[in-house]
Amino acid sequence: MIIRPRRLRRTPAIRDMVRETSLSVKDFIAPLFVKHGQGEKEPISTMPGQYHFSVDTIVKEAEELWGLGIPSIIFFGLPDKKDATGSRSWAEDGIVQQAVSAVKDRLPEMVVITDVCLCEYTDHGHCGVIKDGKVDNDSTLELLARQAVTHAKAGADFVAPSDMMDGRVAAIRKALDVENYQDIGILSYAVKYASAFYGPFREAADSAPQFGDRSGYQMDPANAIEALKEAELDMEEGADIIMVKPAMPYLDIIRRVRELSLVPVAAYNVSGEYAMVKAAGMKGWIDEKKVMMEMLISIKRAGADMILTYFAKEAAGILNY
Ligand code: PBG
Repeated sequence: MIIRPRRLRRTPAIRDMVRETSLSVKDFIAPLFVKHGQGEKEPISTMPGQYHFSVDTIVKEAEELWGLGIPSIIFFGLPDKKDATGSRSWAEDGIVQQAVSAVKDRLPEMVVITDVCLCEYTDHGHCGVIKDGKVDNDSTLELLARQAVTHAKAGADFVAPSDMMDGRVAAIRKALDVENYQDIGILSYAVKYASAFYGPFREAADSAPQFGDRSGYQMDPANAIEALKEAELDMEEGADIIMVKPAMPYLDIIRRVRELSLVPVAAYNVSGEYAMVKAAGMKGWIDEKKVMMEMLISIKRAGADMILTYFAKEAAGILNY
C-alpha cells in the first residue's frame, strides 16, 4: 500500500483546512521613513515602492495602513543635521517626535513604535558615541535612554532600540520608569546580526558608518548560541518583545529564539530582502507577489509572532482581497 499525503492536497478547500500556518495583516509592522518638509513623498531609489515622507504625508500613509488593518508602524528619522553625539535624536521637536505626535493625534489606537538608535543622527554614522576611535558602550546608554524618553513623551507605544549596546534595555527601562512611562514597552532588537542585507536601508536612512563597520557591536552571522544569550539577556533586562534581524537568512535563529522566549518574537524582513525581490521582480525573473507571500509565510512558520516588513501594504492588499 502506498501512503498518500497527496490526499490532503487534492482541492483548495482541503489545503485550506490542513494549512498549519497563517498570515494576517495583524502580523505586520510597517517601517516608515520621515524627514523634514511639507507635502513630501519622495521615492527611495534602493527600495522601490518605499518613500521618504514628511510629517503631513506620513499621517496619510499611516491612515491608509490602518485602513488596511495593519495595526502598527515603526518610524525611522532623517534629521535636519547630524553631529558627533546624534543630539537631534533626543530633541523634543525632532523629526520622529513630530511624526509620532502627529500620527497619534489622528490615530490614537494605532500602535506606534520608534527605532531608537544614533546612527541616523551621528556624523560618523555609528550607533554609539566614539571615544578613542571606538564605539563607547556605556556613554551611549544615557543618550539612548534620553532619546527613548522623548519618543515616549511624544506618544510612542513602544521604543525599539536597534543599537546593540550592552545593557541598553535595562538603561531605557529605568529611564522610562523614572519619567513615569511605565506603560511604554520595549521592543528590543535583541538578536541583530552585522548584515550586508541592511545596505538599501543605509542608503535610505543615510546611516552608513563613515569608518570601519558594525561588527564590533552587531552579531557575527556564524553564531547561533550567542543569539540565545542575547535574547535571554534582553528578556532579563525587561524587553516586552524581542526581535531577530534579518529574517530570511536567519530562519533557524527565529525558530530557536521562539522556542526559548517567554515574550513575543518579532522578525525584521529587512531592506536587502525586500530589494532583492523587487529587483528580480522588475527584471521579470521571479513572480514578485508570489515570492513575497512565500517569504512572509516562511517567516511566520519559522516562529515569528510578528513581522516588520516593507511588504506590509502590498501583502495586506493581497490578504484583504
Ligand atoms: C539602525 C537600524 C538599521 C536597520 C534598522 N535600524 C541599520 C543598521 O543597523 O545598519 C536596518 C533595517 C533594514 O535594513 O531594513 N541601527
